Amino acid sequence: MKLLVTGGAGFIGSNFIRYILACHRGDSIVNLDKLTYSGNLQTLRDMENDRRYAFVRGDIGDRSKVRKILAAGFDAIVHFAAETHVDRSILNGSAFIQTNVLGTQCLMDAAREAGIKRFVLVSTDEVYGSAPAGKKFTEESPLAPNSPYAASKAGGDLWARAHFRTFRFPVIITRCTNNYGPYQYPEKFIPLMLTRAAKGQSIPVYGDGMQVRDWIWVKDHCAGLDAALRKGREGETYNFGAGNEWPNLEIARHLLRLLGKPESLLEFVQDRPGHDRRYALDSEKAHRELGWTPETGLEEGLKQTVDWYAQNADWVRHVESRGYRAYYRKQYDRRDLTLAKALAHGGRK
Ligand code: NAD
Ligand code: DAU
Repeated sequence: MKLLVTGGAGFIGSNFIRYILACHRGDSIVNLDKLTYSGNLQTLRDMENDRRYAFVRGDIGDRSKVRKILAAGFDAIVHFAAETHVDRSILNGSAFIQTNVLGTQCLMDAAREAGIKRFVLVSTDEVYGSAPAGKKFTEESPLAPNSPYAASKAGGDLWARAHFRTFRFPVIITRCTNNYGPYQYPEKFIPLMLTRAAKGQSIPVYGDGMQVRDWIWVKDHCAGLDAALRKGREGETYNFGAGNEWPNLEIARHLLRLLGKPESLLEFVQDRPGHDRRYALDSEKAHRELGWTPETGLEEGLKQTVDWYAQNADWVRHVESRGYRAYYRKQYDRRDLTLAKALAHGGRK
């Protein structure tokens, strides 16, 4: 397959690119990414010389650029690009509406015009809101987003649904729980803990720390997306959960034990406004229709994540320095040759 991946310089997108190119030797990928604060090309350094991969710097909301790229011809789009951090959306929601709603609209409109045959929209479990004790959301559960981030993702998700109903646009929607693993930006809970604890800094635990998340190893999510891309039915939604429901406090204590750090680093701070108490998904449909099941247990995945952050201190330093953004932006603004290269190998003409 010739794939256009958006947001591939971020956490899940970069893991997905690596996963696809390892599992499907004949596939090629063009990665369209704006390189916001969370997009980092150092994450994909090992891909730079792979002839099946090319990078284009651009915004999914830039209609003319998106049209130019799509004119080269792709078999499918896998759409990750988004503003993703709940706390940032509480401080200022503008970029969330801009990218997650308007950017998604622009990309989907352009994809429809270009006659794209498959479009995977990477949505999130947060669109369902907080799960009551003992209940798991199915794909039929009503959407009830509680944070500005979740509301913006629900906007893109519903736009995709409407595109299928109105235009028979071949979209597949996926809703996954909390991912963890290599290359996650250290503003999110697990990498924030690992990078702060490594420096002996305190770990902020929101509220009572008893909020429950269902943690999924990022490569298991990538396998689910790959299955949805190849086997999913158009117009359908698939939940991806791992059944690893742990309270935040338990995650924090477990990681401190793995790191050999004291629990005195835990610092209870004011709760996040509108904080969802629990996320939990019923993934039976993905098991049945896609033949997908997550394979990595939480304790094994957390151990691998601890090891990865310990062994990749350079990556963490690079990301924390913020210097990487200026460096790569300059590089890609100067040579739009990348675009030409991408189109040459990604296009069918
Ligand atoms: P991330 O923040 O690590 O990466 C987002 C990427 O999108 C970055 O590379 C950024 O530069 C790029 N981007 C942002 N705005 C853009 C724009 N306008 N045009 C082009 N590129 C742009 O995010 P992530 O955690 O990898 O999440 C990827 C997707 O998966 C998102 O859609 C998110 O909602 C969804 N998701 C995430 C999780 C999770 O636990 N992280 C769970 C379920 C779903
Ligand atoms: O559920 C999927 C979602 O998971 C994705 O759609 C989002 O893009 C992703 O950011 C994530 O959202 P969360 O809000 O659940 O993730 P975060 O890592 O920000 O927080 C995880 C839990 O940890 C949450 O209950 C809040 C808590 N937390 C978070 C931070 C950053 C803390 O207690 N302290 C912290 O410093």
